Amino acid sequence: MNTIVFALPGNEDLAGKLATSLKADIGELTIRHFPDGETYIRIHSDVKEKRVIMVCSLNNPDEKLLSLFFLSQAAKEQGADCTCLVAPYLAYMRQDKQFNTGEGVTSTYFARFISNFADTLITIDPHLHRRNSMSEIYTVPCKVLHAAGLISAWIRNNIEKPVLIGPDSESEQWVEVVAKNAGAPFIVLEKIRRGDREVEVAVPQVERYREYSPVLVDDIISTAHTMIETVGHLKRAGMKPPVCIGIHGIFAGNSFQELQEAGVATIVTTNTIGHPTNKVEIADLIASAF
Ligand code: R5P
Repeated sequence: MNTIVFALPGNEDLAGKLATSLKADIGELTIRHFPDGETYIRIHSDVKEKRVIMVCSLNNPDEKLLSLFFLSQAAKEQGADCTCLVAPYLAYMRQDKQFNTGEGVTSTYFARFISNFADTLITIDPHLHRRNSMSEIYTVPCKVLHAAGLISAWIRNNIEKPVLIGPDSESEQWVEVVAKNAGAPFIVLEKIRRGDREVEVAVPQVERYREYSPVLVDDIISTAHTMIETVGHLKRAGMKPPVCIGIHGIFAGNSFQELQEAGVATIVTTNTIGHPTNKVEIADLIASAF
């Protein structure tokens, strides 16, 4: 099937690499806003009988969704065979439960919305926490890719004597995989509850790892509070300043600066979301899904 790749604004770099890898054309597209704020969209390329790949990482999702929906609709109206959404970072996965009465479980609504206009979805390490698989909420076929192998390779090539750190027990399974492929040991921080409001965090076997380079790994860095707190625990335990690795670097508000000031060695992310910390390239991983 002929394939054409469209970049939603801000995704040109990844879309270009993907098109090169797939030997596909890059689609030409105009998206702009009318003076009243409504969205204008025009597809300049021929999409007839083609698979249309829409590349759009979904950080700040609310402002991107309508353009995506319009692109998919317009492409189908112009004869596209199917549309495939490549969203290296997939939003709303953390709103997977009603925490308070009356709250919307927005991950379900979001999945329903995407499933209504995209025929397939490809994403990297979506935050599957209380849900086990994408098919619990998405009704279209989803391909889930994992950046663990790429992160392990980056650690192997760049860090001497690493010890991987998981911020909490939830992260254990994942940190274990990265550590194994990086040929490094790992530890997971232990939360010791001393009372309702008193939680102590311990670094197990800290003596053994004082001379190692701690590498903190998490899926998302958003407010960076999880990382900043963990950096504090490591510091108090007498460990070296850690390397902080996030698959998806959202960096909400001032969080990037705050994390830098927390006393880290360096901050590394994949380019699922464009950011100066991007050091792990995911274009080939995405291309491998086709
Ligand atoms: C939580 O379940 C995730 O795995 C991350 O730890 C979390 O999303 C990070 O968020 P923040 O940077 O806001 O602490």
